[in-house]
Amino acid sequence: MSSKATLDKIPAPARAETKDALGRPLHDLRISLLDQCNFRCPYCMPEAEFHAEYEFLRKQQRLTYEEILRVARVAAGLGVSKIRLTGGEPLLDKSLTDLIAGLAKITEIEDLALTTNGMLLAPMASKLAASGLHRVTISLDSLDEDVFRRMSGGRGDLQKVLAGIEAAERAGLSPIKINVVVQRGVNDHTVMDLLQHFRGSGHVVRLIEFMDVGNRNGWRMEQVVPSRQLLDQVVQRWPLRRVDRNYPGEVARRYEYLDGQGEIGFISSVTEPFCGGCSRARLSADGVLYTCLFATHGTDLRESLRNDADEEELTDILSRIWLQRADRYSELRSPALAEAHMQRKVEMYRIGG
Ligand code: GTP
Ligand code: 5AD
Ligand code: SF4
Ligand code: SF4
Repeated sequence: MSSKATLDKIPAPARAETKDALGRPLHDLRISLLDQCNFRCPYCMPEAEFHAEYEFLRKQQRLTYEEILRVARVAAGLGVSKIRLTGGEPLLDKSLTDLIAGLAKITEIEDLALTTNGMLLAPMASKLAASGLHRVTISLDSLDEDVFRRMSGGRGDLQKVLAGIEAAERAGLSPIKINVVVQRGVNDHTVMDLLQHFRGSGHVVRLIEFMDVGNRNGWRMEQVVPSRQLLDQVVQRWPLRRVDRNYPGEVARRYEYLDGQGEIGFISSVTEPFCGGCSRARLSADGVLYTCLFATHGTDLRESLRNDADEEELTDILSRIWLQRADRYSELRSPALAEAHMQRKVEMYRIGG
């Protein structure tokens, strides 16, 4: 297939609701484009391990756009209406707009979003919007220069990220969400300043409990600041009211400032798990499909894709994976389970959260 033909509109197969073993439909597909990142956040890609000699996936190991589009179309046929592009850092992929243009043509996809650290966003925002991207979510853990620098592994430039957010706003990539991973003793003391900064901006800040994703981030329960605690702190300064979910399976609990200065969210996977509504599948850059963020194994689709599996075969593979799915790691999270998963969980930078 030529790359031109690849990006042309090809209708998805007949759509049917596919439910997993716990009755959860498949609605979201998160696609990791590459495992590389220009940051070295200690909770995701600690510098000591991800050094200059670290071997990231080579281009031929990564799915091509044509292969990603084939999976996305099949997923759309099985009920996916939302796609999020992730990494590593997806904006390191300079041809990304070609892929977005292809994904935007899948009629079933109502929400096409991207999660980025924002460093490379300013010069790309208008092109991303023009290619069909709907919105961006920016990971930004602190507005304190020192804390931000430390949390990005010494690589982040706060002013560039803020310029990226402004450019995204001008390009209409909204609603813009700001993801803040809160770690006790690291950035929790800077959360209120960050909220103050974005109040009234129209952007939605989401405070995320630090999770035990992967095996390398040295996660300890003591580092988690429970959302309940943050909520109490916020309410003392700015009264809030609860708002309904935007869509079934939304991971953030939404609140509005009573004084009309906008919305914030809490993502509390550790203290208040939300597996009951989890409708997400994750595709890694090398074509492995995972049905949970904390999965210890996935299904390699790359081989089938490269052996020319047609749409029917791929539909069959994907639906079988989803029908068997019974993941609910966060609900079951316990020291024993964490121990059993030790050294075997898929890493954050490979499935993009
Ligand atoms: P919206 O589409 O705007 O609702 O975004 P999102 O919350 O689905 O995606 P985003 O990439 O912004 O993720 C926010 C945080 O929630 C990150 O820390 C993710 O790792 C985490 N997250 C997303 N999906 C899941 C999930 O299914 N399970 C768990 N445990 N965490 C998740
Ligand atoms: N716990 C919670 N969120 C995390 N993210 C990365 N690592 C973790 C973790 N251990 C966030 C990133 C990004 C999103 C996709 O996941 O900050 O915003
Ligand atoms: Fe990069 Fe995001 Fe991981 Fe930080 S959390 S190292 S920005 S992929
Ligand atoms: Fe879904 Fe797994 Fe997260 Fe539970 S822990 S919400 S099953 S991705």
